[in-house]
Amino acid sequence: MVSRKYIVGNWKMNGLRDQLTNIAEIAKVADEYQAVDVAICPPVTLIAQAVTNFPGFAIGAQDCHFAKSGAHTGCLSADMIREAGASMAILGHSERRADQHETDAEVKSKAEAAHNAGLGVIICVGESEEERDAGKAVEVVCGQLEGSFPDGANVDWLTVAYEPVWAIGTGRVPKAADVEEMHAAIRNALRNLMGERAGGVRILYGGSMNGGNASELLSIPNVDGGLVGGASLTAEKFGPIIEAAAAF
Ligand code: 13P
Repeated sequence: MVSRKYIVGNWKMNGLRDQLTNIAEIAKVADEYQAVDVAICPPVTLIAQAVTNFPGFAIGAQDCHFAKSGAHTGCLSADMIREAGASMAILGHSERRADQHETDAEVKSKAEAAHNAGLGVIICVGESEEERDAGKAVEVVCGQLEGSFPDGANVDWLTVAYEPVWAIGTGRVPKAADVEEMHAAIRNALRNLMGERAGGVRILYGGSMNGGNASELLSIPNVDGGLVGGASLTAEKFGPIIEAAAAF
């Protein structure tokens, strides 16, 4: 039921103004492959400038607060992110779940706040290596999804990203059969949460995706795109992933 692949670059804490030229080059590649939806989530400091410089190219954020406003020093509300020009936000990334101790309940609140501000939402889930070794990967990931799932979620604005923590930035990628099993389990969990509409929600794979492995990963059933870290920083590395997605 998902018809278009979605390739999203998460720049994490990388990117000064000089790197806006990289977004320009990536936007140019994206323009060549209209069958694929592409977005870059740069650090928040670059959002407004990127949106101004590259109209029509989707720019997202990597987080937002769940409160509308208030005494939260250093935080940014969904309205602020939206006003800066972002069209969506990555929420509940494992790095934030680890470093900022974000809980499923917080991720759910953030997703609801983001949607209320008019942002699309990518909710990240993923197991640790210990959890996989203990045979608990599916249980952990589906539990995270249920706990983080925003009220009233719809296919128009919700995307899920499966990112096994041990595959992020390590060059290690799960076996295709394990990705297939997990994405099927996520689809099934989504069905329980939102009924048949779940068929239209895009489920991205993230974790050491690159130009060399994108084709194989994107060919796995229920893998509707990629959430890419390191290989999204330049058009040279990100372009081949977009091109691979266009072949489906
Ligand atoms: P890498 O592609 O660098 O492994 O990062 C994946 C990721 O965490 C994207 O959100």
